[in-house]
Amino acid sequence: LVQSISPYNDDKPPEPITTIGSALDWARSALQEQIDNAWLDARLLLCHVLEVRQEYLILYSEKTLTIQQAADYQSLVMRRATGSPLAYLLGSQPFYDIEVFVSPDVLIPRPETELLVEQAINFAQNRSHQFIVDVGAGSGIIALAMAKHLPQHHITGIDLSQDALDIAKRNTVHLNLVNRVRWLQGNLLDPLIKQGEQVDLIVANLPYITTEEMQDLEVSKHEPHMALDGGNDGLDLIRQLLKNAPLVLKPNGAILMEIGAAQGDGVRNIAQHYFPTAQVHVNQDLAALDRIVSVILPPR
Ligand SMILES: C[S@@+](CC[C@H](N)C(=O)[O-])C[C@H]1O[C@@H](n2cnc3c(N)ncnc32)[C@H](O)[C@@H]1O
Repeated sequence: LVQSISPYNDDKPPEPITTIGSALDWARSALQEQIDNAWLDARLLLCHVLEVRQEYLILYSEKTLTIQQAADYQSLVMRRATGSPLAYLLGSQPFYDIEVFVSPDVLIPRPETELLVEQAINFAQNRSHQFIVDVGAGSGIIALAMAKHLPQHHITGIDLSQDALDIAKRNTVHLNLVNRVRWLQGNLLDPLIKQGEQVDLIVANLPYITTEEMQDLEVSKHEPHMALDGGNDGLDLIRQLLKNAPLVLKPNGAILMEIGAAQGDGVRNIAQHYFPTAQVHVNQDLAALDRIVSVILPPR
């Protein structure tokens, strides 16, 4: 079975997959040329197929796989070898202190976004901001992590993609937060504007990669373009959000947005244009790169 599909190690025919140990050896050699964490990915994918924890693989390395398990594992490893992101193959991804389902319909949660969530939670707690919207919610990570930590707050998530919202809703059920987050489909803040609703805090991780950068990026081959492409200067969506935000923000409200490392000055200028009296700050991440813009309105 293995020999018929493996293009690797032509000089040394691989051992057929019969046991957990031989499956891992085969996967490691199939992956090591293509990806950095071949050994770890080989183990995580096998845990996924067998529905076991990593310790099991060590304790039962001589255990025989069924033909179905071996075939499923080979298929996942080959997809990983040709660039499919691990999170899509596993179907889930840890983020902040939750774990969410992901599919190719949503962006895979990034560690940088944990900083946005941390700052947004602190911000909402300190200022008693009650009504919060997460714009460009994707898998729902920001809204859901905030809902978990802010039990008294009213949280709405908006996305243009219904497929993404379906994943977000699945995550809401899985995390037991069904009564805590409301999901709306639409363009940026339009669903709130149409309903005449106002909020205290807008949190957003919108697409911010330039269309040109998209051409060369590996992620753009696998993750949804709608989640990544921010137009010519990467700021199309952020600009549109800031333009419409005055219609939705309450007095004393605020906006927290994730941005690209080279976009601090650009986003600060746009924010200052639409909110001339607001305090606008660009905050850096742990790598000292511009990452979050906060726009804080003065009390009216
Ligand atoms: C960078 S992803 C972020 C997803 C998620 N919030 C996260 O942090 O992982 C951006 C999201 O914005 C959504 N999006 C793109 N254009 C939009 C628009 N015009 N209105 C609402 N959502 C939009 C995409 O579908 C995608 O889910």
